Amino acid sequence: MEIGRGAEAVITLENGVVKKERHAKSYRQPALDERIRQERTLREARIMSDARRHGVLTPIICDVSRFELKMEMIVGEKLKDIINIELSEMVGETVGKLHLGGIVHGDLTTSNMMLTRGKICLIDFGLSFYEKTVEAQGVDVHVYFQTLESTHDQPEELMKAFVAGYTRAYPQAEAVLQRVKEIKARGRYL
Ligand SMILES: Nc1ncnc2c1ncn2[C@@H]1O[C@H](COP(=O)(O)OP(=O)(O)OP(=O)(O)O)[C@@H](O)[C@H]1O
Ligand SMILES: [Mg+2]
Repeated sequence: MEIGRGAEAVITLENGVVKKERHAKSYRQPALDERIRQERTLREARIMSDARRHGVLTPIICDVSRFELKMEMIVGEKLKDIINIELSEMVGETVGKLHLGGIVHGDLTTSNMMLTRGKICLIDFGLSFYEKTVEAQGVDVHVYFQTLESTHDQPEELMKAFVAGYTRAYPQAEAVLQRVKEIKARGRYL
């Protein structure tokens, strides 16, 4: 059963296991296309497992092949549909732990977050990478703030709550949040 189709992948549910397959993109040169799909699949598997070691809930990976990932199905709700102040603070804490662990998610939208058994679970690590710079972490947070501004009511309150959670979890938070302001200002003049 197909349960999702993102920009990149087709998500199906098979015997309680989620399969994420990256199909060929005809607009890319074939060798490059294979390289991109393989790299994103392997990276997603590796970083998803690694994130768990830093205390961030992610689906357990069951199997990896070249263009295909099998993982635990997360039963819960997409944060996109239920975000509120308390949850945004939990997102802040989760992202703080991830950044403390040296991982940048790369696509921190509320579609890539779920609430399961009272905890935030991050999914969709296809664009994630290892980096500890204030700039990369700032862009990560900026993407989350942009999502709040464009798709949710009361973005200011949700951002404030995120900041509280992020600051609690991550000692470098202040520098990153300062950079987020600069990134936002930069965006206006690009
Ligand atoms: N492990 C999982 N458990 C439950 N649902 C999942 C799981 N993985 C993915 N999904 C569902 O499938 C959707 C798409 O998955 P994902 O975000 O990983 O793929 P994507 O193609 O990269 O999507 P996008 O284009 O939004 O980035 C998710 O938003 C979520 O609703
Ligand atoms: Mg996604």
